[in-house]
Amino acid sequence: MSARTIEKTPVPSLVVFASGRGSNFRALCEAVASKRLSARIEALVCNVAGAACVEVASEHGITVLEIESRGRTREAHEAAVLGALEKIRCDWIVLAGYMRLFTREFIGKFHDPKSGVARIVNIHPSLLPAFPGVDAYGQALRYGVKVTGCTVHFIGEGLDDGPIVAQSVLDVRDDDTEATLSQRGLEVEHNLYITALRSLFERSWRVDGGPAPGARPRVIFEPSFAKESS
Ligand code: GRF
Repeated sequence: MSARTIEKTPVPSLVVFASGRGSNFRALCEAVASKRLSARIEALVCNVAGAACVEVASEHGITVLEIESRGRTREAHEAAVLGALEKIRCDWIVLAGYMRLFTREFIGKFHDPKSGVARIVNIHPSLLPAFPGVDAYGQALRYGVKVTGCTVHFIGEGLDDGPIVAQSVLDVRDDDTEATLSQRGLEVEHNLYITALRSLFERSWRVDGGPAPGARPRVIFEPSFAKESS
């Protein structure tokens, strides 16, 4: 894995992928509109016909690439997505509730040789590596943890397993239900996603091996806090 530092880029072009409600997508649209996030959202890719996120795109005048995945192999669906993206500038793919895994080949198309990772980021509603997969708020409640949270991470080859960009913590209350926990969690997610993307777009960073043999690659923002405090 390369450890070259990625310098700040000019206004990046994003393509957001979503499958459902679209509250994170809405938060991204609003952050761009209010200039809290300096980026352009070039298009929404949605793989589920009639999903609410498509409405959000219309409200914000964003191009929708509705490419249904149902009834298609992963390869056929990804080929259709890549075909549609050919005409669109895409510096980053931002996953916002996209309920589909990518093949290694698809991820490879967005590989960034400077950092050694693909420019595809995701938000997951738990403090990874805890509770990967679906229904992470429900998993946290059923486990009985006292805190949970959310994670923005690069896409890796496994489920929710790429290098971590940022995390936020959320208390689990004794009287929480899945509905109350996810409602508070979504607010935390919306903020974290903007902050994490701003860091990736506006700061210098690299993906580096960890401190010990066998450690997972980690995202290091520069100057690191360690350097600042020494
Ligand atoms: C969020 O909880 C996100 O973390 C997860 O899927 C959910 C999508 O919600 N990946 P929304 O469609 O953004 O409201």
